[in-house]
Amino acid sequence: MNTPGANRSASSVPASSVPTSSASAALAAVPALLELQAVEHVFADGSAGLRGCSLALGRGRRHALLGPNGAGKTTVLQHLNGLLRPTGGRMLWNGRPYEYGRAGLTDLRRRVGLVFQNPERQLFSAQVEEDVSFGPLNLGLDETTVRARVAAALDAVGLAGFGARAVHHLSFGQKKRVCIAGVLAMQPEVLLLDEPMAGLDAPMQRELTALLDGLAARGVTVLLSTHDVDFAYAWADDIHLMAAGRCIASGAAHDVVLQADALQAAGQRQPAALALHAALAARGVLADGPAPRSVDALLEALHALPAASPAQPLACPEPAAQRHAPAPQTQEQTQNQPQQGQPQDRQGHAHHRSGETPA
Ligand SMILES: Nc1ncnc2c1ncn2[C@@H]1O[C@H](COP(=O)(O)OP(=O)(O)OP(=O)(O)O)[C@@H](O)[C@H]1O
Ligand SMILES: [Mg+2]
Repeated sequence: MNTPGANRSASSVPASSVPTSSASAALAAVPALLELQAVEHVFADGSAGLRGCSLALGRGRRHALLGPNGAGKTTVLQHLNGLLRPTGGRMLWNGRPYEYGRAGLTDLRRRVGLVFQNPERQLFSAQVEEDVSFGPLNLGLDETTVRARVAAALDAVGLAGFGARAVHHLSFGQKKRVCIAGVLAMQPEVLLLDEPMAGLDAPMQRELTALLDGLAARGVTVLLSTHDVDFAYAWADDIHLMAAGRCIASGAAHDVVLQADALQAAGQRQPAALALHAALAARGVLADGPAPRSVDALLEALHALPAASPAQPLACPEPAAQRHAPAPQTQEQTQNQPQQGQPQDRQGHAHHRSGETPA
């Protein structure tokens, strides 16, 4: 289980800003499938990747590893998959320490599949089918089984019929799907994905989300890394908040997003759905209670309300881009405007439309 308080001194995050996770008690009921216990990782050049990171992943749940650039998300994923080995602390699978011998790592990587952020790092065969079949062939499976697994994996990522295509002719999103198919063909118990939504368009993101939901519903444990607090809150069962090489809060998504200090320490804002719900509830528009997980769900809740009394116009500040866009001018304004190269007064009035504050 995650013990966020235990490693405070190892992090550059101020101890005062690190909350205790209220959700660890709730998580304690779920047996951890994978666990990092006070894991340190110092890279060859002396940089610290992880600074006493502890977190636990419950089986069959959808986990989001949320944090800013450099927080240690990729480093955590690479430890879980055995690509990196802790320089301190330990990794546990089903309560047992990882075995880093050849047999131990082969077994681990069969169970725990990792999809890299950049598909170019993962794909190395010329043809789609060849790439997806690499893992299952390495497991020593017979040809019929391999063919069946490859077909099922390509189908699952919406690439049925792409088997004979050249990998280098595929789009970025298609390459990403091939990577996911390659891992799915191994039928892992745990699927790790490093920022899977990056570079995918909205429909592809929705399809991938549905695919991950389907896997989780079939008992696969899914962990993905993301910077996007709205996505993490909308999708994940559990959120693990990373900052400066440590997990500073961990637990059910709806609990973690209420930990304002931890969110701030991890450079995250509150999810938009939560903030909007709180504002609407404070004004009596919506009932108090659990916030919807997404802005879409919040909109649905609003649409379900009876029509309101005559609306008051909202005084919304203009977006920055519009504020600086030239406004239509009167002839008088045009005549009074200084020409290019003409000196302007000390107050800089020539720069600004009336009512605007000079920067
Ligand atoms: N191979 C490496 N050699 C040296 N330092 C590294 C290496 N890989 C990562 N680091 C350092 O470890 C820390 C954690 O990096 P990591 O890539 O895990 O962060 P991240 O949370 O995945 O960030 P991002 O959101 O930018 O992908 C960073 O300070 C990074 O500079
Ligand atoms: Mg990363």
